[in-house]
Amino acid sequence: VFDEVCETTGVTLTRFMNEVAILNPEIAEITTLFGAIDTACKAISNLVKRSQLPSSETLGYQGNVNVQGEDQKKLDVITNDLLKRALRFTGRLGILASEEEDEPVDLIGNAVTDSEEIVIDEGEKYVAVFDPLDGSSNVDAGIPTGTIIGIYEHDDCCEIDYDCVDEEDCTEQEAQCLANTLQPGTNLVASAYCLYSSSTFLVLTLGNGVYVFTLDETIGEFVLSKPNIKIPEDCKIYSFNEANLEKWDEPMQKVVKRWREGTGKSGERFSSRYIGSMVGDVHRTLLYGGVFGYPADTKNTNGKLRLLYEGAPMSFIMEQAGGLSTTGKRRVMECVPEYVHQRIPLVMGSKNAVQEVIDEYAESD
Ligand code: AHG
Ligand code: MN
Ligand code: MN
Ligand code: MN
Repeated sequence: VFDEVCETTGVTLTRFMNEVAILNPEIAEITTLFGAIDTACKAISNLVKRSQLPSSETLGYQGNVNVQGEDQKKLDVITNDLLKRALRFTGRLGILASEEEDEPVDLIGNAVTDSEEIVIDEGEKYVAVFDPLDGSSNVDAGIPTGTIIGIYEHDDCCEIDYDCVDEEDCTEQEAQCLANTLQPGTNLVASAYCLYSSSTFLVLTLGNGVYVFTLDETIGEFVLSKPNIKIPEDCKIYSFNEANLEKWDEPMQKVVKRWREGTGKSGERFSSRYIGSMVGDVHRTLLYGGVFGYPADTKNTNGKLRLLYEGAPMSFIMEQAGGLSTTGKRRVMECVPEYVHQRIPLVMGSKNAVQEVIDEYAESD
């Protein structure tokens, strides 16, 4: 144990990324991006914590509706601007897509609406997609919230041949595709989330295991706290908004009812835990084991969560930790977005329990 403690004590995110860059020169530039992510998440953590002070004016609504049809919180906008600035000034990013931006934006902040307008300078190798403040409906009550980030490489190709209904629709979709924002999760080179809770946790994968860093506020650094974390294969917790249960797909209803009654594969009666912030629910699932999901229902036939900047990056982390992530019928990581804000049904977590969902859907076919 002593060696392990020695090995991980005081390993800051900066030192971790420097070591990664030395050992993997081909991804050295990603470590530059994580310098920006490190700073941005510390700043957002500070903003979220200080938003509860009497002098703060950052709680409440911005007063407009975003492209999702949601009433934007002030902190949705503030954190979005903060992340865009932090990522843009790395000089490594060609395109950014965000939950809070109608369209993907290029380095100078132009919306990418027409394939001719895309400006990608030399050295801007990456595309970043992000949800700047996940669970923001909870932020006024001080309930945990998070940030989700996925990093793709520019690969200058757009495999999707759009049989567009009308020219206008085609241009927009083609631009998003040409801007390389419509890539499947299997193309992700890195994913991370930051959880603003009792502590501030930065959880990341570069495709070789999942690493948890905890913000040590006395030194202002993220320090490695759980190297190469693995999710328990079995579990006794499910995490869904059960208010929608009667509207879910039949297979999903059957499995959750069996988990409630203790008649599922494990024979265990499950408990329900749900805080309404995906980052918080997924983090508990990763550490304790469990199944988190937002299934399709009769009202939201594609579920609620967005594939590009919630489903895919969180699925990458879950799979790298030995878990599974499915739409019920397909591996979430293999789903190619048709457009930036596409929603996707998803169930992710402990392998054996998620496999029950996959098997139930297969049987219902
Ligand atoms: P966001 O705050 O980024 O819009 O995401 C909210 C999402 C996700 O965090 C959470 O799991 C889900 O919405 C909760 O939805 P319900 O309130 O419908 O359960
Ligand atoms: Mn939102
Ligand atoms: Mn979200
Ligand atoms: Mn959000």
